[in-house]
Amino acid sequence: MNRAETEAPPESPPLARRIVQEDGVVVEHENFQGDYRLLRLQAPAITPLVQPGQFLHLKAPHAAESLLRRPFSIYQAADGVVSILYKDIGRGTRAMTFLRPGETLNLLGPLGTGYPLEDRGTFPVLVAGGYGMAALYLLAKRHPNRGIAFFGGATPGDILCVPEFEALGWEVRVTTIDGGLGMQGKVTVAIDAWLAEIDETVRPEFYACGPNAMLKAVGDHALARDALAWLSMDRNMGCGVGACLTCVQKLHTEEGGWTWARVCREGPVFETRRILWDEEKAT
Ligand SMILES: Cc1cc2nc3c(=O)[nH]c(=O)nc-3n(C[C@H](O)[C@H](O)[C@H](O)COP(=O)(O)OP(=O)(O)OC[C@H]3O[C@@H](n4cnc5c(N)ncnc54)[C@H](O)[C@@H]3O)c2cc1C
Ligand code: FES
Repeated sequence: MNRAETEAPPESPPLARRIVQEDGVVVEHENFQGDYRLLRLQAPAITPLVQPGQFLHLKAPHAAESLLRRPFSIYQAADGVVSILYKDIGRGTRAMTFLRPGETLNLLGPLGTGYPLEDRGTFPVLVAGGYGMAALYLLAKRHPNRGIAFFGGATPGDILCVPEFEALGWEVRVTTIDGGLGMQGKVTVAIDAWLAEIDETVRPEFYACGPNAMLKAVGDHALARDALAWLSMDRNMGCGVGACLTCVQKLHTEEGGWTWARVCREGPVFETRRILWDEEKAT
């Protein structure tokens, strides 16, 4: 029986409505691994509000005043300190590389609707590419169950945080396109191998963050097994709080039509059945 035909997927958890604007103080800023840097910020007002899958919208100092805020998934949040792992890819992230301990930068957060944490008696399967490995860490820590995590990247330098996830009790399987670490190929190769290993009694529930093509593939795997898949969508953002409509994504409605949703507010995490992918025809 196909769940999509019989019942609506569960809604994402209610939005944590409290959003704080706070000057975060840099407590640590260092090379993490490969092209990624770890930025730890003292932010005592934001930290206790953070839910897995939420993000910070930060105003990069050392950049032109006109530069919009930039969104970053919250990697860790504890003891009044929030952390992000980021890659220098453009103007904003380049400006961030100059931050030194003791400097401040303005933060807005925690933003968005993250991953659900309900225990549905399913087996959690995390799937990450790129910064998704950071975005899923808090979920791995706070999820009531332990399961398996699939990390994919182009080269070994793209694979982050494996020891951290293993220390939390998750099995981690790695794929790289160049075959330098783990199985060679895309992350779905390892997922397919695992799905062939498990028996019918294992009911996977997927949680993913990474490039859109990866998210779509994870969603398709979930649909094929009548499983749920919670996908964190990446969109360029403006305001980050639902006002400017820069980040919109088409979603299916229960009535069979479609509607726009704001990735910064109703998302970034959506259950795969709700997402109307660009290649699908909107009716
Ligand atoms: C919810 C969310 C969470 C994110 N979490 C992280 C994270 O934890 N770590 C991390 O390194 N990055 C993360 N990102 C991506 C990050 O926001 C962008 O890398 C950053 O905004 C780039 O800013 P920039 O000024 O350096 O680049 P720009 O100068 O603005 O852009 C440089 C190039 O990158 C492209 N680009 C810019 N933003 C994005 C984006 N969001 N997705 C794809 N391409 C983009 C541009 O089109 C351009 O080609 C996240 C994005 C979202 C939406
Ligand atoms: S970024 Fe402005 S509405 Fe989402």
